Amino acid sequence: MAKTILVTGGAGYIGSHTVVELLEAKYNVVVIDNLYNSSIGAIQAIKNITGKDLIFYKGDCADSDFVKSVFAKNSIDAVIHFAGYKAVGESVEKPLFYYGNNLGSTVTLLEVMKEFSCTKFVFSSSATVYLDPKDVKYNETTTQTNRPFSPYGSTKLVQEYILEDVAKGSEFEKVDGLQVVSLRYFNPIGAHFSGDLGEDPNGIPNNLAPYITQVAVGKLKELQIFGDDYKTPDGTCLRDYIHVVDLAKGHLSGLEYIFAKKGKFFDPINLGTGAPVSVFQVVESFVKAVGRPIPYKVVGRRSGDLPEFYADPEKAKKVLGWQTKLDLDKMTADSWHWQKRHPNGFES
Ligand code: NAD
Ligand code: UFG
Repeated sequence: MAKTILVTGGAGYIGSHTVVELLEAKYNVVVIDNLYNSSIGAIQAIKNITGKDLIFYKGDCADSDFVKSVFAKNSIDAVIHFAGYKAVGESVEKPLFYYGNNLGSTVTLLEVMKEFSCTKFVFSSSATVYLDPKDVKYNETTTQTNRPFSPYGSTKLVQEYILEDVAKGSEFEKVDGLQVVSLRYFNPIGAHFSGDLGEDPNGIPNNLAPYITQVAVGKLKELQIFGDDYKTPDGTCLRDYIHVVDLAKGHLSGLEYIFAKKGKFFDPINLGTGAPVSVFQVVESFVKAVGRPIPYKVVGRRSGDLPEFYADPEKAKKVLGWQTKLDLDKMTADSWHWQKRHPNGFES
């Protein structure tokens, strides 16, 4: 019988793409989202793309009674937990808001899962948990020598500590122990191939790809490139950009791994390509996709940016049998396809 997956934050950017892949792989899907940073339009887009139905509840993951009511109405086999706030800069201004929501949601979910004997958990972690200042290629054994540079990053690291501790402890033992895969994403960009599901940020985007597509569509004047004087081949920062559809598929591999493995565990796994790409390379790729120049100017460095930041993707290959398939040109072409078809996101 088809398994039922609870996807928290399933109306958001990565969650919605993952729901599409889950439905196409014939899982039943229940989504919880409070629509704080997303729109009901994403749920409709998922249904249009897949031709399949899902159960959607508008509500908050930190609200214990609400989460219990969802578990009481549905027989949940596993949880993929995307819900959380993610803006690095905002988290510096409002740390309590971030700790409260991100930690509160995870703790509440775990308590309800325990009550309903649900033991399988895929967590949206982030490469931001790595804070070794050596700027090397990161693998999962890289030790934490420093604290994350933002409260957002700290919430991710603390959520990993909570999950690891609970997996090691005895509170889930009467039901085989908690099983956790913590997926550490690098830089997700791109959109669904249909052009009808994509990233729809509120206000002016902080991240590179949505900023560029908004310049290309005429909503913003020009891109500011934060520094071209780094010790990198072209002077701009290197990142590990990953197509959101590859990333979504990585969650299915994580689920299959959890369903196949017995006993309690906490397994952190990088999801990235392993290929460092510069800001100039991203801009060049968008120029090809859009078919005209992207206006930009180089400005000073952005505080907190590391020169290089990319994954060692070997563990994902070995443990999950997963690796990325889609290249940078596909990522930028799909980001542009979505933006062009939906200049005002899900409003248009
Ligand atoms: P997103 O903001 O598009 O999606 C998160 C969703 O969770 C939103 O729909 C929001 O409304 C919902 N939400 C937030 N708090 C909630 C709560 N308490 N109850 C119910 N719903 C709630 O973000 P995204 O880019 O899709 O990111 C998904 C997850 O992946 C987040 O946990 C984020 O921290 C993590 N992540 C994202 C990136 C990235 O660059 N996008 C990188 C690494 C990790
Ligand atoms: N950049 C620009 N101009 C912009 C935006 C970004 O030049 O307008 C540059 C940045 O300086 C950086 C690169 O583009 O060199 C990528 O920046 P993003 O903001 O898109 O992504 P980051 O690597 O800074 O951050 C991402 C996530 C964070 C997460 C971090 C580490 O957005 O949530 O990866 O995992 F914490």
